[in-house]
Amino acid sequence: VTASPDLDGIVAHRMRRAGSDAISDILAATGLPGMLSMAGGLPSAETFPVAALAAAFDAVFTHRAPAALQYAPTPGVPAMREALAQRASSTGASVTAERVLVTSGSQQGLDLVARVLLDEGDTVVLDDPSYLGAVQTFGIAGARLLPVPADEDGMDTTVLAGLLAAGERCKLVYVVPHFHNPTGAVLTAARRAHLAELAERYGFPIVEDDPYADLAFDGQRLPSMDTLTDRTVRLMSLSKTLCPGLRVAGLVAPQPLLAELVRAKQTADLQSNTLGQYAVAHLLGDPGFLPAHLQRLQQFYRGRAGQLAALVAEQLPWLSADPPRGGLFFWCRLTHHGLHADRLSRAALDAGVAIVPGPPFCIDRDGSRHVRLSFATLGEADLRAAVQRLTVAFDRETRSLGAASARSRSTAPHTH
Ligand SMILES: Cc1ncc(COP(=O)(O)O)c(C=O)c1O
Repeated sequence: VTASPDLDGIVAHRMRRAGSDAISDILAATGLPGMLSMAGGLPSAETFPVAALAAAFDAVFTHRAPAALQYAPTPGVPAMREALAQRASSTGASVTAERVLVTSGSQQGLDLVARVLLDEGDTVVLDDPSYLGAVQTFGIAGARLLPVPADEDGMDTTVLAGLLAAGERCKLVYVVPHFHNPTGAVLTAARRAHLAELAERYGFPIVEDDPYADLAFDGQRLPSMDTLTDRTVRLMSLSKTLCPGLRVAGLVAPQPLLAELVRAKQTADLQSNTLGQYAVAHLLGDPGFLPAHLQRLQQFYRGRAGQLAALVAEQLPWLSADPPRGGLFFWCRLTHHGLHADRLSRAALDAGVAIVPGPPFCIDRDGSRHVRLSFATLGEADLRAAVQRLTVAFDRETRSLGAASARSRSTAPHTH
């Protein structure tokens, strides 16, 4: 979808490269009365640590005002940088607070990385399919996207090695290594090591965007890519771990690059929200909070994923999905002949349930046989109703496919 023709000559060319906004209609429809949504990438509001955040804000207002209401340094409030450095060190290579930049969501981290690293036409390697927000950010930056096929073990690094050996030069490689959006895949330890080796050999940075790592159903995560190579830029979202509304996140980058990212951040928004940084730093500074909270999160999403897996197995035999081991999504293949993800998603909206078709996530690969279902936001009764509505959509869609093929048979010329 391109920008409106009315804006020709007004809007910068780069906005034409934002790529597809095909799912915005679906996401808009999720607000309609009675609609059940399995479409968004939202965490469940039931997981938000409301009481703990309220207490943290209270403590900040009592003890840290007015500083918490004032401008703060661009790289972040020192306590927040320290909290992120500690979180990073406990899940990857040891880092100091000087290596951390606080960002407004990891989406801003992506945007800053794109601004700092990419010139027009530079090549970005990424999974196919990939996170839409990354595809759009790199697209607007004028990058050439070089998709690499991915399977249940993440990016196929052997294919990447072949491309690099054949002379492809990439400016960065972007990965979502735990519970990928949309596929749910985890990049295996062997492929991580291979990717790190390629980064060292060919000299490119790896942008590791890992918002779902805390949502492993068994609590297990692989160490960050920065334990394997210094060429890692780590984006550390807290949106799925705490809540997205505060827009407090961070990134960890090698020092000379960090200084450039800070300069880019200064022109983008001067700094991230001071009050939120103080409150999140206060919360993460409580040693008892995070381990117990993460356990609750993991248990919560494990339960929801189990419910959806059971419903799919019972009622949706035309969907095939490997239940994920973490994250928020089922990436499902449509096994019924002739079924198209876009048409099914439209039929699902008509039946009162929103799902996301595969094509917008795909770059070269054909996404028309896949849909993404989120199990995060619907409770058991609503999940059951949503699956029931999917069967209605499937029945309608296959009836209309049957009618269309009967029509084409009756009007087909005789060829014998
Ligand atoms: C892979 C990925 N990266 C980044 C983001 C954005 O995260 P944040 O809320 O920290 O900006 C999302 C949100 O869904 C995501 O799925």
